[in-house]
Amino acid sequence: MKKILFAASECVPFIKTGGLADVVGSLPKSFDKEEYDVRVIIPKYMCIDQKWKDQMTYIDHFYMDLCWRKQYVGIMELEYEGVKIYFIDNEYYFGGEKPYSDARYDLEKFAFFSRAVLSALPVIDFRPDVIHCHDWHTGLIPVYLKDSFASGEFYQGIKTIMTIHNLKFQGVWDIDTIKDIAGLSDYYFTSDKLKDYDNGNYLKGGIVYADMVTTVSDTYAEEIKTPFFGEGLDGLLRARSNCLRGIVNGIDYDEYNPATDKYIDKNFSKANFRKEKVKNKTALQKELGLEVNPKKMMIGIVSRLTDQKGFDLISCVMDEMCQDAVQFVILGTGEERYENMFRHFDWKYGKSVSANIYYSEERSHKVYAACDAFLMPSLFEPCGLSQLMSLRYGTLPIVRETGGLKDTVEPYNEYENTGTGFSFCNYNAHEMMGTVRYAEHVYYDKKRDWNKMVERAMSVDFSWKTSAKKYQQLYDDLIG
Ligand code: ADP
Ligand code: GLC
Repeated sequence: MKKILFAASECVPFIKTGGLADVVGSLPKSFDKEEYDVRVIIPKYMCIDQKWKDQMTYIDHFYMDLCWRKQYVGIMELEYEGVKIYFIDNEYYFGGEKPYSDARYDLEKFAFFSRAVLSALPVIDFRPDVIHCHDWHTGLIPVYLKDSFASGEFYQGIKTIMTIHNLKFQGVWDIDTIKDIAGLSDYYFTSDKLKDYDNGNYLKGGIVYADMVTTVSDTYAEEIKTPFFGEGLDGLLRARSNCLRGIVNGIDYDEYNPATDKYIDKNFSKANFRKEKVKNKTALQKELGLEVNPKKMMIGIVSRLTDQKGFDLISCVMDEMCQDAVQFVILGTGEERYENMFRHFDWKYGKSVSANIYYSEERSHKVYAACDAFLMPSLFEPCGLSQLMSLRYGTLPIVRETGGLKDTVEPYNEYENTGTGFSFCNYNAHEMMGTVRYAEHVYYDKKRDWNKMVERAMSVDFSWKTSAKKYQQLYDDLIG
């Protein structure tokens, strides 16, 4: 049995702020259980729902040295859908209302978490063959493994993988502070290790010290080797390119299944979507106070409202797009200017724009099910899961050709009648609007072609099946 430990800051259904949580929660379920014992370790945040906390069992606790500090490390455990999940408990670090807060404090929090993960392994009596680290929060794990844990017999031969979900976030602060909170010596703060100009950089440490580096789509794996997408680490990623792989994300096909989804008004499938899917649209129109009209094209957005997702393009042409026969349903939270922008358009075009500025799992399923199209004009997108969810619900994605969006949405070809969505290349508001209008044209004037495309979208398979096999292969290669 090969033993794998996922270390991450988020995991559904316990805690989620974005796609990272979806991946950490759904990928471990998809491995071949006969051969791989995959477990997950995350922080026990105070803000995890009490329902889950009630199901955790206490394993043990100890006190751990972290530089000059001594910190409590509690370990809790629960099994969810066949996967063992460990939780690291410390109320000082994980007591906030949200998983992340002040950046400096988060750095200390995840230095603690990374060291605690390694320290906890003998206590839980689980010696992984591979520790699979996700994003900057766990970037110090491969570093610590080669540092203070290197001499421990227990840790000999443990391999590490660093998966980059988003290179934008790296965990960066001045060297003196990082040295103090991470408890690492001067040795680590040279440009070939954690030093990044005058700062210390967790993710850089992870990329330098991990045995393998992966990211969440082929295109993003190529993009990050260039200065624009590389966020200052493109040189390092080029240098490590023989150890860098792109493995595209999947989604949980049980959780996101229009035929059984409990959150949506009317279940539907590839066989009956022509009649049934639209009932979700009219139900949502009623619920949100939009004009109730089954024929009106509805475009959805479910997203963190940040620059990454291309909202400046939308802000530039939203007034114009609202003159068309379309409705927009937005579900998201994030930067205040984008929250207010959508509130403004909701106020201005009440019958055709609905801005839902909050987080709701249930509402998100309703939007994926109800809309005809889904707009995601990202500036960059390591993979993107929302477009995969949309495809699953026969909601055609309109995307910019970057990262995982390029790899998962095949643009409509009206001559050959192929494709599963619409896409545009340049980061340009009018190019985006032109593509939205092209989609409107197909929706209104070529309904048969549109429906065939919906059928194709619902037929593509972005469950974890294929990608889990690729990770398995990677584990096998590493373990040897
Ligand atoms: P990212 O991880 O960059 O935010 P992804 O597309 O990979 O983007 O994943 C986003 C995930 O978060 C999806 O599961 C999406 O449905 C969910 N999501 C984003 N905003 C909201 C919201 N306001 N309410 C519910 N779910 C949301
Ligand atoms: C990040 C990326 C997103 C990706 C997700 C899961 O949040 O922004 O594109 O789908 O991680 O890998």
